[in-house]
Amino acid sequence: MLPEFSLTEWYDISTGRLRGNRPVVERRLVDLQGCFADEGEYAALLSRENPLLYTVTAVDHSEGVGDLHYGLGVLHPGKVGSEYFMTKGHLHSWREAAEVYIGLSGRGVMLLEDEAAGESRLEPLEANSIVYVPGRTAHRTMNVGDKPLVYLGVYPARAGHDYGAIAKSNFRMIVVEQDGRPVMMARDNSL
Ligand code: 6PG
Ligand code: NI
Repeated sequence: MLPEFSLTEWYDISTGRLRGNRPVVERRLVDLQGCFADEGEYAALLSRENPLLYTVTAVDHSEGVGDLHYGLGVLHPGKVGSEYFMTKGHLHSWREAAEVYIGLSGRGVMLLEDEAAGESRLEPLEANSIVYVPGRTAHRTMNVGDKPLVYLGVYPARAGHDYGAIAKSNFRMIVVEQDGRPVMMARDNSL
């Protein structure tokens, strides 16, 4: 039997919002304590303002084995020092859970870090790109352009979010703007 809820959602590419009144998760600068390498720049910006960095609207109808959830994300442009505005980043609580990110508009990159080996990689996330995030891979998104980055993430319903591991040891690499381009470098010998 087909479910009773609507199987179609409509989104507005100019706002990155879904139609209707779904709960929207908002993350502001203050919520990203510890994420940016340059703590001085972070504190300086936060003392002046607390900008909205991103919003996520999740569509999570059903929780069954085999079900999927998806989230529409809007990550605003901006920087803390030379580091781009970013998402908190996470591993999935169910480590095997992979995810597909579909870029809808704007220009971004995804920082991926394999949990076991600690290898890192940068992948472009923008209109016409699709990024496959394997299981056991921490993922964080950065806006490297000057317009909102709008994207869709699709993941197993039971994936869950583990922010704790990232909050504890952080991503090994950071992404900074150098000569107008995103460059990945080790957090330890940065800045
Ligand atoms: C997920 C997705 C995605 C993600 C947002 C915000 O697993 O739900 O990766 O919807 O949650 O891009 O990023 P953070 O969850 O890291 O804040
Ligand atoms: Ni995820």
